[in-house]
Amino acid sequence: MMRLETLLIHGAEGDSETGSVSTPIYQASTFRQHTVGQEGGYQYSRGNNPTRHALEEQMAVLEGGSRGFAFGSGMAALTAVFNLFSAGDHIIASQNLYGGTSRVLDKIFSRFGIAVSYVDFSKVAAIEAAIQPNTKVLVIETPSNPTLMVTDIKAVTDLAKKRGLLTVADNTFMSPYLQRPLDFGVDIVVHSATKFIGGHSDVLSGVVVVKDSELAKEIHFIQNSTGGVLGPFDSWLLLRGLKTLGIRMDRQSQNARELAEWLRARPEVNKVYYLGFADHPGYELHRSQASNTGNVVSFDVGDGEFARHILEKVKLCVLGDSLGGVESLVNLPDVMSHGSVPKERKLEMGVTTSLIRLSVGIEHPADIIADLEQAMEK
Ligand SMILES: Cc1ncc(COP(=O)(O)O)c(C=O)c1O
Repeated sequence: MMRLETLLIHGAEGDSETGSVSTPIYQASTFRQHTVGQEGGYQYSRGNNPTRHALEEQMAVLEGGSRGFAFGSGMAALTAVFNLFSAGDHIIASQNLYGGTSRVLDKIFSRFGIAVSYVDFSKVAAIEAAIQPNTKVLVIETPSNPTLMVTDIKAVTDLAKKRGLLTVADNTFMSPYLQRPLDFGVDIVVHSATKFIGGHSDVLSGVVVVKDSELAKEIHFIQNSTGGVLGPFDSWLLLRGLKTLGIRMDRQSQNARELAEWLRARPEVNKVYYLGFADHPGYELHRSQASNTGNVVSFDVGDGEFARHILEKVKLCVLGDSLGGVESLVNLPDVMSHGSVPKERKLEMGVTTSLIRLSVGIEHPADIIADLEQAMEK
């Protein structure tokens, strides 16, 4: 079995017919059929497209699943997963879920009679206590955005198996290079591939990976029926991005450590959330289920006005909504990524008006530090 670093380069081997090292972009909506109602092969790109298929296979291999499915955004991928459920079903999700995920559950799926409870996923007993007769699934996001709360994936999947529930894990923050939830018994892995999988802040995309063949059939049925698929060119961009996932993640994790240590020593900073600090409450657990910290460092400067001052004065770091690109990105979760989350839930997860999220890029760390230093001058 090839190691992940090698699989990233050789998992999707281009085109065997022409020898093209890069997977061709099949910019086609429909394919010639040889018989009426042809079985197998390619027919129509909503159902299947060769470039998207190469990406889906590559993601399945990287996550240790049997099949992958690529969508036009992370939210389209999550929506397809939630389409597995029906009126009367109940979902238990981590209270630290990405704001867009809780928005689609609270504002869209609630209209179709699907209920959701948000629970502190660091306490397995609290999850168990929230299980109702109609509960169908547990939704994990670890580490969480933006305060990096860690969930014990194995403990949650053990509980789910005991109680006959499915588990979904949003693996966006780690990517399969650092964490493979299917290995810990998760049924469905989801990515906002917009982030590390693409890696260059140029493509919006989502991916679902599953192991079980029946579940794979259901997700494919939903993908083809609802149609939120990823186009061939964007699929190719992700295949290209994946080649450098390993070296990007290594460099970003290394830079994140430098930034976290520098931030912790600054008098302006009250609190730093970083998975590489031994005093982080999820430090040991994260180390037991992921191979590195990832690149997110969040820090609280104690004063909302000062946080805005820093965000408006940065020059090298980009003030923007997103993370996981090669460039360092900063945001104010309170009004940006978590703007749609109710105030009490934000405060429960540490999202204050003065919390800044930094997604560390692959620049020289000294330049990122110099930029933040000049931005902190009052
Ligand atoms: C953890 C997580 N899940 C899902 C999403 C949604 O993905 P997208 O923006 O690609 O629709 C995001 C986006 O920020 C995210 O951070």
